[in-house]
Amino acid sequence: MLPESPVTDAADARARARQALPRLIFDYIDGAAGQGDGEADNRRSLRAIRLQPRILRDVRERSLATQIFGQDYDLPFGVAPMGMCNLAWPGADRMLARLAAAENIPLGVSTVASSSLEEMLTLSEGRAWFQLYYSGDGSGTLRLVERARVAGYQTLVLTVDVPEVGRRPREVKQGFGMPFRIGARAFTDFALHPRWSLTTLMHGSPALGNFTSADALAGHVFDRTESRAGADWAFFDRLRETWPGNLVVKGVLNPADALDLRERGADAIQVSSHGGRQLDSGLSPIHALTSVRTALGPDFPVFYDSGLRSGEDVLKVLALGADFAFFGRPLQFSIAARREQGLREYWDSVKTELSVGMAMVGQTRIADIGPDAIIAGAEAATADA
Ligand SMILES: Cc1cc2nc3c(=O)[nH]c(=O)nc-3n(C[C@H](O)[C@H](O)[C@H](O)COP(=O)(O)O)c2cc1C
Repeated sequence: MLPESPVTDAADARARARQALPRLIFDYIDGAAGQGDGEADNRRSLRAIRLQPRILRDVRERSLATQIFGQDYDLPFGVAPMGMCNLAWPGADRMLARLAAAENIPLGVSTVASSSLEEMLTLSEGRAWFQLYYSGDGSGTLRLVERARVAGYQTLVLTVDVPEVGRRPREVKQGFGMPFRIGARAFTDFALHPRWSLTTLMHGSPALGNFTSADALAGHVFDRTESRAGADWAFFDRLRETWPGNLVVKGVLNPADALDLRERGADAIQVSSHGGRQLDSGLSPIHALTSVRTALGPDFPVFYDSGLRSGEDVLKVLALGADFAFFGRPLQFSIAARREQGLREYWDSVKTELSVGMAMVGQTRIADIGPDAIIAGAEAATADA
């Protein structure tokens, strides 16, 4: 039996996920680096931006459709790659893949997804983008790239902001580890959340879908503790030579890095702070967005994630120069709150807010949304989200 009332927004999804999930799991998903300042700053900075309403423009015919890499998408936002989504609820990965197919949007499939990259590509009806983590000496990484190519992936997302996994005190406190185990230490926590615990027990402990024992025989292994720090420009060049499809680089906050990446053949830059999970004292990516866009000029594809919670947030980042946006935590929370139905309810809320927001700022097409949708210099003083 699902809780009855629909998910209304990201805060509602988060509050209900907090009730539904064992603390260990909630803290893993919700957590951030250090004291959580990076994450709080993402929210503060986005909330502080004020939209500029315009009036008496005929905005009856609005379209949320857009194009990336020559491909039509129905919305300017998609699913950020997230590892181990099935911790939020068994089958969460597949719910996200079905969402991508139904809504015609890109689906980020993490290296450490709960389901295999092949299955996610099939379930999303070809809309999956494979997210790559470099690890060890890079040889296993390139084997994985080849596997994604053979599977039929056309877009690869290289995540570059995890040279080491950020230290997240909430994970440390709860004893969260990978591979995930239901240990005696968390027994009370699980006992207090029987619905999650029983469903998870029935489906078996969530595993890494790309690294089963069969995959290990084919040479695909992943060790979360293995250093990812060896990734360098030489690796990037090698990857660019190897990968024939679109190459997105995720986790870029510095305009000089963005320019170097374009020079060396990247096809898109994703401005992101990994949802504040990597640095406590980093720059909120919303502040990097304008400088990255300015450095790259108007035409180079720039994507954005971190801290987005609503359709108005999407409108803001599009106005500040992003071509496309990605959501992370709220998708997992809406699943934890009300499974696939909760995910669709939250998703619809974002669509509606974006559409209403466009009407309010007097725009009817995604491509026309620009800086004039924002009130320059009118950042609001906001409390913590
Ligand atoms: C639980 C969780 C797992 C994540 N796993 C990955 C991952 O495997 N690869 C990756 O590139 N980013 C990963 N991310 C980061 C997201 O892709 C994205 O950058 C971030 O969640 C956006 O911020 P938001 O959660 O505030 O929307 C993860 C984020 C969360 C919350």
